[in-house]
Amino acid sequence: MARAIAHPNIALIKYWGKADPLINLPAVPSISLTLSELETSTSVTIDPQLNQDVFILNGKETINPKVELMMNAVRKIAKKEVFASIKSSNNFPTSAGYASSASGMAAIALASNQAYELGLDHDGLARLARLGSGSATRSIDGGLVSWPTGTDVSSFGRAILPPEEVPLAVFSVTTTAANKKISSTDAMQIVSSTSPYYPTWVQNSTDDYFKALELIKKSKWEDLLALAQNNALKMHAVNLAARPEIIYWQPESLAIMQQVQKIQTEKQIPVYFSLDAGPNVKLLTLQKWVKEVATEFATWDLQLSLPGKGAQIIDQN
Ligand code: ADP
Ligand code: DP6
Ligand code: CO
Repeated sequence: MARAIAHPNIALIKYWGKADPLINLPAVPSISLTLSELETSTSVTIDPQLNQDVFILNGKETINPKVELMMNAVRKIAKKEVFASIKSSNNFPTSAGYASSASGMAAIALASNQAYELGLDHDGLARLARLGSGSATRSIDGGLVSWPTGTDVSSFGRAILPPEEVPLAVFSVTTTAANKKISSTDAMQIVSSTSPYYPTWVQNSTDDYFKALELIKKSKWEDLLALAQNNALKMHAVNLAARPEIIYWQPESLAIMQQVQKIQTEKQIPVYFSLDAGPNVKLLTLQKWVKEVATEFATWDLQLSLPGKGAQIIDQN
């Protein structure tokens, strides 16, 4: 038995589009920040009595083909045909654009590496997590993480800057805990095959990735957050142009985005926004501005995260 915890991450430069959907190779490189406070905790218990895996998510037995895909990969590496009971819970909304698939699959990768004694190193873990969900490859590490495009062996999350050296802070603003109507996986498929803006997105977001790496190197944090906001809007723009059209926003999402723009221009507070595949908005700021941002957005339900640590084993026997 082994238990692992992992944190979700917010992409500053988005992973949106796949070069190979079977093994989650991305069409674009991405950069994310791992988030403290939001957390998945997962135990993997090998049980020779079982004739299939049992997966319990937030207290409910669930069938999840992606979890199965990962567990089959685990058994292949272990060269053991034994099944496991996997119990996981998230302390934040599941399938709602909070990247539960990222922390969820990262925690499974770590806990099964331990339980099945796979002996995977960092890169092996990041590749295993990627199989379950692309964004999970970036939750193995803490702080700022990049995920380049490439092949099965070269495309995985790599730490750029440890959490203690990242002066950023993120507020998650809950608009609605309702599940998203279209999963990230399905949306990427629809968008890449129907959105006329998709080829431009791939080119332009790749440029953003290299710009972001430069800004991080030069500690130009505010410019990085401004670029992240623009990258998020471009991702949603490709979705709007797809068939069927994909609109993840709710009225409150737009209200928050407009409030951010107003504060940027009228009050000169460095606050920016980003949204993943869901209606909830992330406010991006610098740690030294947290108080001012919290005051400006006091009417909303806010959860503050600082740069989070990488996935960790917390219990084993
Ligand atoms: P999100 O924005 O929350 O990442 P996605 O559509 O990308 O939404 O992913 C949701 C998928 O992740 C669902 O299949 C869900 O069952 C799975 N998932 C969520 N939490 C966990 C977890 N703790 N462990 C394993 N899988 C999880
Ligand atoms: C908008 O990693 O959830 O959050 O690989 O199909 O599981 P799958 O998709 P997922 O996609 C995340 C998309 C995003 C942007 C990001 O996290 O980079
Ligand atoms: Co996800």
